Amino acid sequence: MNKIINCLIHKDTTCSPIWFMRQAGRYLPEFRKIRLGNSDFIKLCLNSNLSSEISLQPISRFDLDAAIIFSDILMVPYGLGQQIKFEKDRGPILSKFNVNAFLESSEKDFTQKLNPVYEAIKKTRENLNKKKSLISFIGAPWTLIVYMLGLKKEKDTLDLSLVEEKNEEIDLILSTLNRFLCVHINNQVKAGADVVQIFDSWAGLIPNQLLGKYCYEPNLKLVNFCKENKIPVICFPRGIKDNYMKFCQIIKPDGINIDYNVDPEWIKKNINGTCVQGGMDPKILLKDEKEVYQEAEKYLKIFKNLPYIFNLGHGLLPETNPDIVEKLVRFVRNYK
Ligand code: CP3
Repeated sequence: MNKIINCLIHKDTTCSPIWFMRQAGRYLPEFRKIRLGNSDFIKLCLNSNLSSEISLQPISRFDLDAAIIFSDILMVPYGLGQQIKFEKDRGPILSKFNVNAFLESSEKDFTQKLNPVYEAIKKTRENLNKKKSLISFIGAPWTLIVYMLGLKKEKDTLDLSLVEEKNEEIDLILSTLNRFLCVHINNQVKAGADVVQIFDSWAGLIPNQLLGKYCYEPNLKLVNFCKENKIPVICFPRGIKDNYMKFCQIIKPDGINIDYNVDPEWIKKNINGTCVQGGMDPKILLKDEKEVYQEAEKYLKIFKNLPYIFNLGHGLLPETNPDIVEKLVRFVRNYK
């Protein structure tokens, strides 16, 4: 049994397993080298040899407990017919959403289109030490809809009038998306992934009175699907502040990733039993070594003798120096 699953399921408290969100990414020169020759990001995600190689890059460098498959949450809208472009400094841009084409998508076509992702998982699993987890992931429905319908305005605020206007369309999309996300989870697990993380990166934009409908309910359905299929699941409803407590009470995931605005002492008091993951601000890794160790120690101390997976409160930043990542991994490993 590997350390991450032991921590998530059996609530083993004897060690803090460690991995990082965006551990495969632009802060690694070996990733940038591959990226330079592959300007189309979606095509790169669909190149199973390269995406498997990228998934394993951080594993060759650091003593981590898990690989995360190199892919993207937007592969699901891609599999359901939307074109996706990544423009520098503008983030992802999706082609106009066509509700009829979306509702008529077939599971067979979807699986076929995303087959290279599953092939990449197979290859990665074959080349990964059995003691390490292979984490697969999905975007939660709300976060995907934010991109699919372009619900965000400048400066990462929500276009609430557009949400109201599209209320019925969003309801239709939610149930269909849920079905395809379950297919995607299932395909990834069949290919060899042993943990699922659900990213609800824009949950923090949802007005309080709509959290039930757009965040809790869709996450609950997906977590229950994972539980029925005995797949350990970690949720990351980024930015929902005090509602992390309610989220855990309702959804009861095996693990909860906290963002860096969540007070770790507060979460420790308010969610008994759930394994906590992450929390540390990735910006700290741009500071000097001493501050990095101090902040890491804060989390390790607070969660000592509790099931805790060391990670961050969001992904590693592209400016991060890989040497500090290596030092941090060693620090966490040696912490007693
Ligand atoms: O190492 C890993 O974490 C695995 C791979 C992974 C990527 N994206 C690769 C990627 C994972 C788990 C994701 C999740 C993802 N993708 C999320 C949820 C997590 C979060 O960041 O909140 C979201 C919202 C996306 C959508 C997305 N993909 C955005 C907004 C962007 C552009 C902004 C950015 O951070 O670069 C991407 C592109 C992307 N996905 C990159 C990587 C390594 C950068 C691509 C590049 O080289 O330019």
